[in-house]
Amino acid sequence: MKKIIFSAKLVVVCACMMLASACSDHEVDPNLGPYDTTDTTDTSTILSNYNEQYRPQIHYTPATNWINDPNGLVYANGTYHMFYQYNPQGNSWGNMSWGHATSTDLVHWKEQSVALTRDELGDIFSGSAVVDSANTAGFGAGAIVAIYTSSDTYQQQSLAYSTDGIKFTKYSGNPIIKSTSTDFRDPKVFWYAAGKKWIMELATGSNHSIELWTSTDLKTWTQMSTFTSSLSACNQGQWECPDLFPLTYKSQQKWIQLVSTNPGGHVTGSSTMYFIGDFNGTTFTADDSYSYPLWLDYGADTYANATWNNINGRRIAIGWMNNWNYAGSVPTYPWRSAMTLPRELSLIDYNGKPILSNKVIPEISSIAGDWRNINDGALGNADAYEVQVTLPTSVSWTITLSNDQGQEYSMTYDAADFRIIADRGSDTGSCSFSTGFAIPSINMPLNTDGGNVTLDIFVDRSSVETTTDTGSSSMTNILFPTNIYNHISLSGADGSIKVRSMKSIWK
Ligand code: FRU
Repeated sequence: MKKIIFSAKLVVVCACMMLASACSDHEVDPNLGPYDTTDTTDTSTILSNYNEQYRPQIHYTPATNWINDPNGLVYANGTYHMFYQYNPQGNSWGNMSWGHATSTDLVHWKEQSVALTRDELGDIFSGSAVVDSANTAGFGAGAIVAIYTSSDTYQQQSLAYSTDGIKFTKYSGNPIIKSTSTDFRDPKVFWYAAGKKWIMELATGSNHSIELWTSTDLKTWTQMSTFTSSLSACNQGQWECPDLFPLTYKSQQKWIQLVSTNPGGHVTGSSTMYFIGDFNGTTFTADDSYSYPLWLDYGADTYANATWNNINGRRIAIGWMNNWNYAGSVPTYPWRSAMTLPRELSLIDYNGKPILSNKVIPEISSIAGDWRNINDGALGNADAYEVQVTLPTSVSWTITLSNDQGQEYSMTYDAADFRIIADRGSDTGSCSFSTGFAIPSINMPLNTDGGNVTLDIFVDRSSVETTTDTGSSSMTNILFPTNIYNHISLSGADGSIKVRSMKSIWK
């Protein structure tokens, strides 16, 4: 982290930049182009104290500059690596590179040097990373191999490798998969032990398919199959950032196919959907008894969700906490966008069938204080909060989070529909930076039975993430209140509220 004491001059510059960015056009998915190039602010030399207005205190952000999708999630030698789409030169999408952060607990992150920058094959778009323990590629046993899309006139796939996890060397034989397609990207590679082979998934954007390829050496690839959906509700916008992994349900292995789709999400713009089914080593087949699309998260702000490779016995996901509809104009400076809190994925039962559960990882407790039952609604004076509220499902009620400026974010449960409707309207804080940002009804089904529901709510300076305590549904929304919401009230029903403070991961 870069540190500096803020000078008056810098504060004025910041304020002007924020105003300028508030007036800029919307960013759109670069794959739908054209994207906003009007904001050419060079934020790369700004020093951050991680305490600016809206700066997330328990979520990963880079010190400066634009980020989008998490990339290359891999656990190696006791370190969680998180690479991500990054602009080393500014606070808008462009110059796409892989930024890099590392962690030993998935809670505290250290920003590392930029891992991969643009070359003659193009921008460095999204992709994944593996640990090549058996040295199948010949870069060394245990090398971290990054597989990414080289995006220029066409989208092709390339490799880079590292033996120290920090410095990457691009493979001289790039691109490893040549293509003349403009919609062929975001390789997710994993080791398929049952078949002793590598699998790569690739998304085809507006062609709405996921291609499955295989290799034994990470360098030479052959296509095996293509996954598509016949449902028009799933075939909106672009298909991007696929991920395929197994989970156990009632002692049986099921496979989950994540597909991010933009636009055409659950709320507006960007969302991640999932399919449940089987993978036989060649083909993924979705169980057709579900009403697809199923959504990983029902909020407006989690996209490009991906999971870590090489973690034994756990499946942990993280997403980009933003939405292409307005990501380019969110009023943060000198960085833009955060990652969600990491989520632990599992399969749980709902109506006799498995659904995907996602819950914030238990490691978050390492920055939490003791639980306190609260009666007067005051959350306290902390960097961030985790609030748990237990309420009946038989009647309707409203939970309201608010701050001393009178800005508020409410979640209303509709007992007739077993749904929570979040009001991310214009009372929540700064909204005017984009006409598409204020959304008064973002709805999340509870996906659970029972007389009571417990909601787990993580409140940071510019986001609220809500999950049911079983993880049966979740809703991630970014918001820009002048100060963090530090008060909670209930109406319509009596419930119990407890809170614990969260300590900044940057202190
Ligand atoms: C998804 C995405 C990917 C692409 C990357 C470019 O948000 O559009 O498909 O690789 O962002 O930054």
